[in-house]
This record gives sequence, C-alpha cells and structure tokens, in this order.
Amino acid sequence: MTGSPEHIKGMVFNLDGVIVDTARYHYVAWKRLANQLGFDFSAGQHESLRGLSRMASLEKILEWGEIYMTEAEKLHWSDVKNNWYVELISSLRPGDVLPGALLFIRQAREAGLKIALASASKSARQVLHSTRLESYFDAVIDGNITRKAIPDPECFLLAARAIDLVPSECLVFEDSALGVMAALAGRFTVVGIGDPDYLPNAHLVIPGFEDLSCTSLLGRVNEAIFSHS
Ligand code: G6P
Repeated sequence: MTGSPEHIKGMVFNLDGVIVDTARYHYVAWKRLANQLGFDFSAGQHESLRGLSRMASLEKILEWGEIYMTEAEKLHWSDVKNNWYVELISSLRPGDVLPGALLFIRQAREAGLKIALASASKSARQVLHSTRLESYFDAVIDGNITRKAIPDPECFLLAARAIDLVPSECLVFEDSALGVMAALAGRFTVVGIGDPDYLPNAHLVIPGFEDLSCTSLLGRVNEAIFSHS
C-alpha cells in the first residue's frame, strides 16, 4: 500500500538528475572514454544509461562500440572514467543545484518531514559537499553502501530505514524509469521528475522543483493517489 499525504513523514531523493544535473558530467567522461577506444555515442544514447550502475553503464557503452573487454580491463576503464568524472564534479558549486530543489527541501524540513538521499553513485557525498547540501539530509545512502543496483529497491529501503520510516510513509523522487520501478517494487509512493512519457508508472510526474511548494506537491500527490485508486 502506498501512503496518503497525511501519512507522509519523509522524502527520499535520488541525486543525479533530481537535485543536481550530474548526468552531463557522466556524459562527458563516458564520451571521452568511448573516443579513446575509437568510437562515439550520442547524448540520446547516454539518456538510456540514466540510473544504471557504473559497470552496467560501461557494459552498455562497450556494446555500442562493439568492443570486447576482460573483467580486469573493464575495472581499469571504469576507474579511468571515474577519475575523469570526479575531476569534473570538483567544479560543482551551490549554484549548480537544480532550480527550486533547495527551497523545496527546506520547506519539507520546516514541515517536519525527514529527508534522505538514495543514490547509486559512490561520489554522492562529494556532490552534496560541493553544493553545500549535506546538512539538509538526515541520512545518505550511496553507492558505497548499497549492494544491489536498481531496479532492486535496496537503496530506497535502506534510506527509509535510516530515517526510521517504512515505505508507505515516504515519497521517493526519481528521474529514471528504472528508478521508478525500483521504488514501486519497494512499495513507495513515487514522484517522477522529467517527461511523463518516459515515466508512465510514477504516481505523479513533475518537470522539476521550480516554483513548486512542498504543500502543493503533497496536495497533487493526494489527488494522483485518489485518481489511481
Ligand atoms: C547514478 C547515475 C548513473 C551512475 C551511477 C553510479 O545512478 O545516475 O549515471 O552510473 O549513479 O555512479 P558513480 O559515480 O559511482 O559511477
């Protein structure tokens, strides 16, 4: 059972593409790797990697380039890509937080909701630190903690547990179709961020947090749940 807004006591945010647009840095780093290996791929192809783990992303990219690698080579190249990525995100600043996200999180905290982060990225804490967002989160579950990649709901379940809530008491904010599936599998109420055509299973889809108050979002979730049932 998903929860009604009166039962919502916490919010679990994915990071990449929800709070900070780090996808463009992943794209630059993966593209550089592909180019070194002698091929290229489009921004559209990169979109399909949203939410995938580092290794799953590399495997997909190698498929596009029709390149075979041993497991040791894959580990080497995923490390190389990660070093480039970490260098790129070192330039992140508070101004890189997506429009409206900080205000929305502040309002949620003021309303007494607990706030958690659930990200597959091992660099999530670095991103929170550079954008000065760390102190807004009661719990951070990142790729250093999780063992199972989405569509397994592990990261969301761990995040809910870390803020002492059960899934029906939490809203999950997620930008990838795979992430939405994972949160639904964990029996969370899910707010998709982005284009409704790509996130058909979310309870509600919003374009982002700009001009969105926490109260109006909870009202819209309420309406969406009633129209689903
Ligand atoms: C997030 C991003 C993915 C990324 C994954 C692992 O889910 O959406 O694009 O591959 O985290 O990130 P990492 O920084 O550990 O390689």
